[in-house]
Amino acid sequence: MTTISAPRERRPQKVAILPGDGIGVDVTREAVKVLETAAERWSLPLELVTFPWNADHYLETGETLPDGMLDELARDFSAIFIGAYGDSRVPDMKHAADILLGIRFGLDLYVNFRPIQLYHDKLCPLVGKTAKDIDFVVFRENTEGAYVGIGGNFKRGTVDEVAIQEEIYTHRGVDRILRAAFDYARRSGRGKVCMADKSNVMRYGHDLWQRCFATVSAEYPDVEARHLFVDALAMQLVRKPETFEVIVTTNMFGDILTDLGAGLQGGLGIAASANLHPGRVSMFEPVHGSAPKYAGTGRANPMAAVLSTGLLLDDLGHAEAAAAVEAAVREAIAYDETTSDLGGSMTTSEVGDALARRLARKVPA
Ligand code: NAD
Ligand code: IPM
Ligand code: MN
Repeated sequence: MTTISAPRERRPQKVAILPGDGIGVDVTREAVKVLETAAERWSLPLELVTFPWNADHYLETGETLPDGMLDELARDFSAIFIGAYGDSRVPDMKHAADILLGIRFGLDLYVNFRPIQLYHDKLCPLVGKTAKDIDFVVFRENTEGAYVGIGGNFKRGTVDEVAIQEEIYTHRGVDRILRAAFDYARRSGRGKVCMADKSNVMRYGHDLWQRCFATVSAEYPDVEARHLFVDALAMQLVRKPETFEVIVTTNMFGDILTDLGAGLQGGLGIAASANLHPGRVSMFEPVHGSAPKYAGTGRANPMAAVLSTGLLLDDLGHAEAAAAVEAAVREAIAYDETTSDLGGSMTTSEVGDALARRLARKVPA
């Protein structure tokens, strides 16, 4: 999988590990296992540093992301890995907002890169489709839209309550995510870009997307550009997934469409993502959440987290190791070395062990 960053020169490459909450902890343990195995096999200069910030830590200490930490991550680290955040004891998601969204926004990681790939026909939920039909990437805008947290309440808690939740779009923000998608299409050989918005209704914000799209697509005559309203796109992703190569869309639409995409590839247990600002420290995480009811049960599939470490390795310039991580997942699925969500009978750590063994070449491929 080609990602979009240029490798940075930094030795050793420090990687911040934030397991987070719930199954985030379970899958991160396996992701670390795989990263350590890759580091050993390819002699990678990785130095993993684990941080404790999560719901427990917040409830005990009141601390979410410590002051000055964003600067430290940007200055001293080469990458960040996150498991997942979300805990019912923190209903307003204060810690997740500060840590997860804090890192996305604070480090200006404007590309949420989410590849959707069906690794084996047996995981396909669609009749008549096979692995060759489901292979596209979503460029989700990651620093604007409905996620900026601007709004308020009037007469809160009464029947007269008014709630306002603003979305923002800037020319700079829309232009740069579109360019990232078109650049990627050109470089990766996935020559088709589909932009999805709801400009028929969102006549201000999404009209800006339309105008930026017209300008940017005209600069890439070698890339096939297409527009769909997001509702039509949702339908086409199920009916004709083979017609998509690169999708670029808003923050909220990208969030929703990539869970749909996860469904196409076998579920949230296998959907990986990268939060990128090319040339800067970036953050890698599975698309799934903390799935609290699975926490500590051994049922969580670590493959989404492991595939996210593949994206991380690629971003750090370790293309061979990155490709091997993806190959290990592909092989493990073929041999049913999977958790129950993918039809197997292994536990989280057994899958992690199996992937590490494949990566270390301790089993025949
Ligand atoms: P979720 O992704 O945690 O789980 C939804 C369902 O998907 C699970 O019940 C399970 O059936 C399946 N699933 C998810 N990950 C899996 C895995 N690794 N292996 C096997 N099955 C898996 O979403 P939710 O239940 O809507 O949210 C739970 C909490 O996570 C909430 O607090 C939510 O806000 C948070 N959340 C966090 C992130 C993140 O940290 N990036 C993403 C989504 C949701
Ligand atoms: C995701 C998640 C997050 C999002 C939540 C937990 C803030 O759903 O990464 O897809 O909405 O971006
Ligand atoms: Mn989501």
